[in-house]
Amino acid sequence: MATGWEPDRISENEIADGEAYHRALYINGDIGRPANWHGESAERLVQLVVPNIKEGSLVVDYGSGTGGSAIELLKEVEKRGMEISLVLIDPLVSWFSKARDLLKGRPNVHFELSIEKDDSGKSSFRRLEDMLGGRKADVIISSSTMHLVPKRAIRDLASQFSSSLKEDGVFIWDSGDLESDFRPDHSALLHDPYRAVREILRHDEIRATRLSEMSNEDVLQHEGMLDRIFPGPYSMDVILDALSAVGFSSEIHDEVIGFSNDDAERFAMVPRLSEIAAPLLPGEERDEAIRGALKIALAEIAEQGKGSHSEYRSHWVYGVHRLR
Ligand SMILES: C[S@@+](CC[C@H](N)C(=O)[O-])C[C@H]1O[C@@H](n2cnc3c(N)ncnc32)[C@H](O)[C@@H]1O
Repeated sequence: MATGWEPDRISENEIADGEAYHRALYINGDIGRPANWHGESAERLVQLVVPNIKEGSLVVDYGSGTGGSAIELLKEVEKRGMEISLVLIDPLVSWFSKARDLLKGRPNVHFELSIEKDDSGKSSFRRLEDMLGGRKADVIISSSTMHLVPKRAIRDLASQFSSSLKEDGVFIWDSGDLESDFRPDHSALLHDPYRAVREILRHDEIRATRLSEMSNEDVLQHEGMLDRIFPGPYSMDVILDALSAVGFSSEIHDEVIGFSNDDAERFAMVPRLSEIAAPLLPGEERDEAIRGALKIALAEIAEQGKGSHSEYRSHWVYGVHRLR
């Protein structure tokens, strides 16, 4: 049985949110059928990870979400008849509880919720060293998560990775939403369509009416929160510089991966992500607005030569970093 964090009184909405993200990664929620973008991006990551693990390795998955990266890694490890200890870490209860549900029957799988509240109710991230309780990892992976970590927090995170790895440990990550000077012109960033949806919906009439009924202060707070769902992309150099500053070497890979329009719609409709259309009401009102805006966004991306009528091309970067 898996150990560690378990959800406590999770709501129906949270369950639905985790289920929807899981279904954005896996067709009909079947872990044997990853959506193309998830399967391809995770496959490359797993290929980079596997040569670095051996029987009994301690592997950390930083930003596990609903378990998409952990599941793909465990498939490969099992195929090779190996056993590893895997620690899953994430701050989002709704998605993380889906990972817990999917992997609860596995031995050697441990869960750590990475957010905590102090007595005044203020939330903060827990340090990796504390979550590992002094243990050092052979490998830390982080899939599709680094671009969500604010720039200002990257330095400290790199230092947490460095102090949580064994001397010969390795940090391996991927992201489809970071700028680089080698992104091919025919590719977009992973979240470009959803940032475009957000921009289109800024001018949605019903949305504008709802916002006009709120106080200026509330609008500012509300809009700021929505802008953080798909934050503006920064350069992967921010991450490489931070890793280098704490003593990591860097090996970089990249890949262009097709993201089908159907998968994009499933992704955009995940309740937590569809919040970009708030205060449009969840359900038909919000879904219809997102569907329409996404169509326009994907057509624009295709017109820019970064996709076709059936998919957009996302550019993924991969980093492999050792402590020198
Ligand atoms: C797109 S999901 C990736 C999940 C999984 N690794 C996969 O490949 O399917 C990104 C995860 O990063 C987490 N996350 C968001 N902001 C974060 C931050 N600042 N620090 C750590 N994790 C964060 C989210 O809760 C989310 O589950």
